[in-house]
Amino acid sequence: MTVCLGIESTAHTFAAAIVTSKNKILSDVRANYTTDKGGIIPHEAAKHHKNVYKKIISKAIEDAKIKSSDINLIAYSRGPGLSPSLHVGLNAVKELADDLSIPITGVNHSISHLTVAKLFFDVKNPIYVYVSGPNTQILSLEGNRFRVLGECLSIGLGNALDKFARAIELGFPGGPKIEQLALNGKYVELPYVVKGMDLELSGIITKATDLYKKGISKEDLCYSLQETMFAMLTEVSERALAHTQKNELVLVGGVAANKRLCSMLDIMCRERDSKFYAVPLKYSGDQAVQIAFQGLLQFKAGNTIAKEKLDIDPMWRTDQVEIDFL
Ligand code: ATP
Ligand code: FE2
Repeated sequence: MTVCLGIESTAHTFAAAIVTSKNKILSDVRANYTTDKGGIIPHEAAKHHKNVYKKIISKAIEDAKIKSSDINLIAYSRGPGLSPSLHVGLNAVKELADDLSIPITGVNHSISHLTVAKLFFDVKNPIYVYVSGPNTQILSLEGNRFRVLGECLSIGLGNALDKFARAIELGFPGGPKIEQLALNGKYVELPYVVKGMDLELSGIITKATDLYKKGISKEDLCYSLQETMFAMLTEVSERALAHTQKNELVLVGGVAANKRLCSMLDIMCRERDSKFYAVPLKYSGDQAVQIAFQGLLQFKAGNTIAKEKLDIDPMWRTDQVEIDFL
C-alpha cells in the first residue's frame, strides 16, 4: 500500500493530507490566510504559510495515526499559483525529502480539482464543469490532454454572483446569499448571452444592477440572475456532452454548492440518460486531499521528480499537462 502525504500551497490555503492507495483519507489539515477586506496579498499569504507549515504537516501525520516513516510518497502542488506561496510548499517538500528519502511527484493544482471526483465517484470519462470564483470552464479529457470546450469570457460565474451581491449590498461571498433570496423571487427578463460554447456574464450583471436601481426587488433579480446564468451554463454543458458523446457530468468548484444549479444540471443529464455528480463541498475548494490523491495516481503511472529537480511553475496551464494517469 502506498501512503501519500499531499501538500497544497498555491494561494490562500496551506494544507497537508494523508491519503492511501486504497482511497482512504487518513487526515486532512488546512490553514487559511484571510483578509478583512480586499484580496490576497501574495507576500502576506506566503508569510502565513511559513508560520504554519511545520505545524500543519506534523498534525496531518499525527491525525493519520502514523509515523513519518510510514509515508512512502510525497505529492505537492507544483502550480499554477502565486509564486511566494508555492515556494513555501516547495521548501517544505525539500526539507522532507532530506529527512525521508522517498519518491516525490509534482501535481497540477487545477487538474487536481477535477481528478478528486474519482476519489468519491466511480466516474470513467466525464465532462467536467468547473465553477469557482474566478474560473468557469467546461473541460473534457481528449486523448492525453484536457481540453477547455467552453468558458466564461469576461468574468467567472462565482465572481459574477459576488459582483452583483456587492452592487446590491449583500456582502461577500455573494453566491449563498443570492441563492437564499432567489427562493422568494419571480422571473424578470435578463440578457442571455451564449457565444458558441462560451458564456458572457458581464452584460447581465450590468442590466440586473440597472434594474435594481429602477426598483425591481432583490428577490426577483437574484432569482432571475440564477435562472439565466445557470440556464446558459446548462446549455453549453449539454452541448459538451452531445459533442463528445459522453454520458457523465461532474460539477466542481465553490458554485457547486448551489442547489438550483445542481438541480438544473441533474435534470438535463437525466433527459440525456447521463449521470450527474457534484463533488462534495468540503473537497471543492483548495485542500491537500486532492493533491495526495492525484499524486498516488501519478506515482502509479511512474511519474516522479528527482530531488535535485524539484521546482514550481506558477503559470502551469491545464492543457500543458500530459495526462497519463487517469
Ligand atoms: P479557485 O480555487 O478556482 O482559485 P476560489 O477559491 O475563489 O477559486 P471557490 O472557493 O471554489 O473559489 O468558490 C468561491 C465562489 O463560490 C464564490 O464566488 C462564491 O460566491 C461561490 N459560492 C459559494 N456558495 C455558493 C452558492 N450556494 N451558490 C452560488 N455560488 C456560491
Ligand atoms: Fe483551487
